[in-house]
Amino acid sequence: MKLLSTLFVACGLLTASVAFAAPDGDAAQALMKKSDCLKCHAIDKKKDGPSFKEVAKKYKGKADAEDKLVKHITTGPMIEIDGVKEEHKKIKSTDAAEIKNAVQWMLSL
Ligand code: HEC
Repeated sequence: MKLLSTLFVACGLLTASVAFAAPDGDAAQALMKKSDCLKCHAIDKKKDGPSFKEVAKKYKGKADAEDKLVKHITTGPMIEIDGVKEEHKKIKSTDAAEIKNAVQWMLSL
């Protein structure tokens, strides 16, 4: 019995780490497209905002990267574009798993 439950736990961990290692890039990009993020961001070139690769580099190895980015795209902090202050766009989703996937994808670039 003990072995069996250990196996279950091991399987659960395995599934969780696979999900973490491979965020769904198509879903992430579809959500960002829907939320107008791509107007100011691209994967690897700077527009009004930093490229997502740049963001990934900035947050690489930081334990709180995911939390910080989720907060950034859900709370609308003030940013500055060409000297004009405006509220950063919020992601068009209230689904925590969907938002997390988008952030994990960004960090994987
Ligand atoms: C009007 C242009 C604009 C739109 C639209 C926009 N952003 Fe941004 N974004 C910016 C700018 C400018 C910055 C840099 C802000 C700064 O560093 O102060 C930024 C920064 C970021 C960062 C980096 C935050 C950090 O802490 O380094 C992320 C991640 C991000 N945006 C994601 C998104 C997502 C996801 C969307 C769609 C919901 C989005 N952005 C829509 C302009 C935009």
